[in-house]
Amino acid sequence: MTSKDLKNNFFQYFKAKKHAIIGSASLIPENDPSVLFITAGMQPLVPYLMGEKHPEGKRLANFQKCMRTDDIDEIGDTTHHTFFEMLGNWSLGDYFKEDTIKFSLEFLVGILKLNKNKLGISIFAGNDDVPEYDQESEEFWLDLGIPQEKICKVKDNWWGPAGETGPCGPDTEVFYWTGEGEAPAKFNEDDEGWVEIWNNVLMEYNKTADGKFIPLEQKNVDTGMGLERTLAVLNSMDDNYMTDLFLPIIQKIEDLSEKKYADDKKSFRIVADHIRSAVFILGDPCNIAPGNKDQGYVLRRLIRRAIRFAKQLGIENKFTTKLAKVVIKNYQTDYKELFDNEEFILEQLNQEESKFSKTLSKGLKEFEKFISQDALNEEAAFILFTTYGFPIEMTLEMAEEKGIKLDKKKYEEAFNKHQELSRTASAGKFKGGLADDGEMAKKFHTATHLLHQALRDVLGDHVQQKGSNINEQRLRFDFTHPEKMTDEEKTKVEEIVNQQIELDLPVLCEEMSVAQAKEQGAIGLFDKKYGEMVKVYKVGKFSQEICGGPHVKSTAELGHFKIKKEQSSSAGIRRIKAILE
Ligand code: ALA
Repeated sequence: MTSKDLKNNFFQYFKAKKHAIIGSASLIPENDPSVLFITAGMQPLVPYLMGEKHPEGKRLANFQKCMRTDDIDEIGDTTHHTFFEMLGNWSLGDYFKEDTIKFSLEFLVGILKLNKNKLGISIFAGNDDVPEYDQESEEFWLDLGIPQEKICKVKDNWWGPAGETGPCGPDTEVFYWTGEGEAPAKFNEDDEGWVEIWNNVLMEYNKTADGKFIPLEQKNVDTGMGLERTLAVLNSMDDNYMTDLFLPIIQKIEDLSEKKYADDKKSFRIVADHIRSAVFILGDPCNIAPGNKDQGYVLRRLIRRAIRFAKQLGIENKFTTKLAKVVIKNYQTDYKELFDNEEFILEQLNQEESKFSKTLSKGLKEFEKFISQDALNEEAAFILFTTYGFPIEMTLEMAEEKGIKLDKKKYEEAFNKHQELSRTASAGKFKGGLADDGEMAKKFHTATHLLHQALRDVLGDHVQQKGSNINEQRLRFDFTHPEKMTDEEKTKVEEIVNQQIELDLPVLCEEMSVAQAKEQGAIGLFDKKYGEMVKVYKVGKFSQEICGGPHVKSTAELGHFKIKKEQSSSAGIRRIKAILE
């Protein structure tokens, strides 16, 4: 089965079950500052899980680009990836345990023809916060013919929230036996022969900032099926890199290195995984470029790590753009943005590779010197970073390969004091964000719409949103504009926003088709994530913008708007940080 077949089967099945099919949202969270990347399909849907109305209804199915960089060190085995795609079906306060369990079994066995005897099920065993075990789910599985020995209770069967706060709940997971022969009579999730292929999350709680679990007003279902992993299982492959999602990339690395995949699978996998991820980050409409913080730093780390392992495979000439072209070709049907941003992707990879290649050999020599003198301490690692651009994680990893075991924690602590570099996707830097449903988040969200329109009024219609991020203290807005804003322009923008606030304009939401929204001149990201119907938030007659919400009821709630900073974000993109006083 190809990845295309699997996706088609999934959407056909859930369409027949009355789900609206929506596309993937951006890989960079919009308005959620608690994470650097989207790590699960539920994140872009948080407002709807919390009770906002989704324009496509209460049943959705989608695929979502995800990035998890916490376990980057595990990349190199058969199943871990930094970037992956997640297929999911959603109930926003509609069906719950019984139906989602039924759907998952029917899809896996009835449609995908997986062997029911090879399924193992885990259910929530209860924990300190929510002590009851999930007996209901257990009974539904038993009713559907899953034997008791194939169901096990697990304390960790709890999913979310994705950041610090937000929707979460117990889950029931489906595993498939991929080991030799018949499945064992009893399911034991610690046995590596069992591979998790599906997760039904029963999202019925909201975790608040003070760590409490409050029942949500609506009970939701969030399911996740990792595309790479399920595809491998369906094809009886014990290596995700052999599926059509990776094979062309692996073959290209074979060409470039003149080596066989079997010669050094680990290095092949790292190069393939990291370049694929880099292409997806660069190809995102937000235009993230390699840099020294946040997403840019993760991107830099991925590219540089790929270069180091490519070198290990004997690839001496520039290669990143050659591989990137293969990735773009392989994925452009579902992700048109890769094709649209191809020039940016190739240019950035090229630049980063040039920069790093120039210093890599010298840096490696310096590294060897530190090792031979037994002098690889914190300061040395810092020199390797500042002078040769070695990400700290890379230095640690190389040191480990040489058998000097360094105290990773100590290094990271010291480094984080110097620079805020190494934040991974789930580090949860800020509290707040839309998952909090907090008052400040709503205010900044509405202020962002006012700012967006004011910028277009002052600078021109070429201004387009490239990113938006909110925390308790400020809003941050990235937009297309070729040059630094003058002081007059900034003052004018502030004036316009404050005028709208003083007018105490109502904020109203209307649902309409994408075509209607365009016709009415609504601005905002006409993103695939919304499907056919969208919500347009109107602030008086001043602004109308496509958005999921939530917003304040009227602009007078905002207070006084002030721009604190206007700076470059990347080529052709400016960034404004602003506060409400
Ligand atoms: N949100 C769930 C997961 O990521 C489905 O596994």
